Amino acid sequence: MSADSAESVIRFRGVARRYEMGDQVVNALDGVDLDIRRNEYVAIIGASGSGKSTMMNIIGCLDRPTEGEYQLEGHDVGAMNENELARVRNREIGFVFQSFNLLPRANALKNVMQPLVFRGIKLDDRKQKARQSLERVGLGDRVDHLPNQLSGGQRQRVAIARALVGEPAILLADEPTGNLDSRTTVEIMRLFDALHSAGQTIIMVTHEADIAAHCERVIRLEDGRVAEDHRNNTRRRALAEGADG
Ligand SMILES: Nc1ncnc2c1ncn2[C@@H]1O[C@H](COP(=O)(O)OP(=O)(O)OP(=O)(O)O)[C@@H](O)[C@H]1O
Ligand SMILES: [Mg+2]
Repeated sequence: MSADSAESVIRFRGVARRYEMGDQVVNALDGVDLDIRRNEYVAIIGASGSGKSTMMNIIGCLDRPTEGEYQLEGHDVGAMNENELARVRNREIGFVFQSFNLLPRANALKNVMQPLVFRGIKLDDRKQKARQSLERVGLGDRVDHLPNQLSGGQRQRVAIARALVGEPAILLADEPTGNLDSRTTVEIMRLFDALHSAGQTIIMVTHEADIAAHCERVIRLEDGRVAEDHRNNTRRRALAEGADG
């Protein structure tokens, strides 16, 4: 492994994802080169249909490229079998979705414990880790609540606690504030900012410029290609904002 690839958590070379629809080919991703390093805080933006979710699903090993090479922490994802992919998804990736995707009949603690079940961790340790993860997102007093007994922002916090409980290399979030009102959005962004400050690598899809403004780096997709990739030198920090206002 070269020094270069060791530094990149994510490395795409010519990554394409093509769908064949009859005699038409949809280039959802169309030859993307990309390097993302540890502790980067990245926004992926772009018009509807530009390939954002496709890119997130490939990064998160929920989908595979049809062409090109994807290395995750120096490991060639294309060469992994289903078992290895499942392991990577469970260990290296924490996924947060717009629609929370919580188990409706499980309380917050059980939802957060869920990813640890596949790791052969003892029940007591699972509970302890899940409780700590819920405390980290400010929900230490909601462990027994069911999803429908929580507000939208609290549900998303449970989903974030679940994504983080296994200490993943990358936190992926696809429109994490898409179902939240503006006040709750600020709270969630404050949490993401704090997680990033604590060392978490974060990649987030968003439609909103306000949200992208939190990130250090903004990548804009257009028709499955990287149209823009820039550092955000005037980054907004919700923590600082909260302290001021
Ligand atoms: N399973 C599929 N089969 C065929 N085409 C697909 C499939 N999934 C996505 N596409 C196409 O790939 C392109 C990229 O889709 P993608 O979902 O990545 O867009 P997006 O940027 O996430 O859009 P949005 O902002 O609306 O969520 C679109 O043109 C879409 O129609
Ligand atoms: Mg999408």
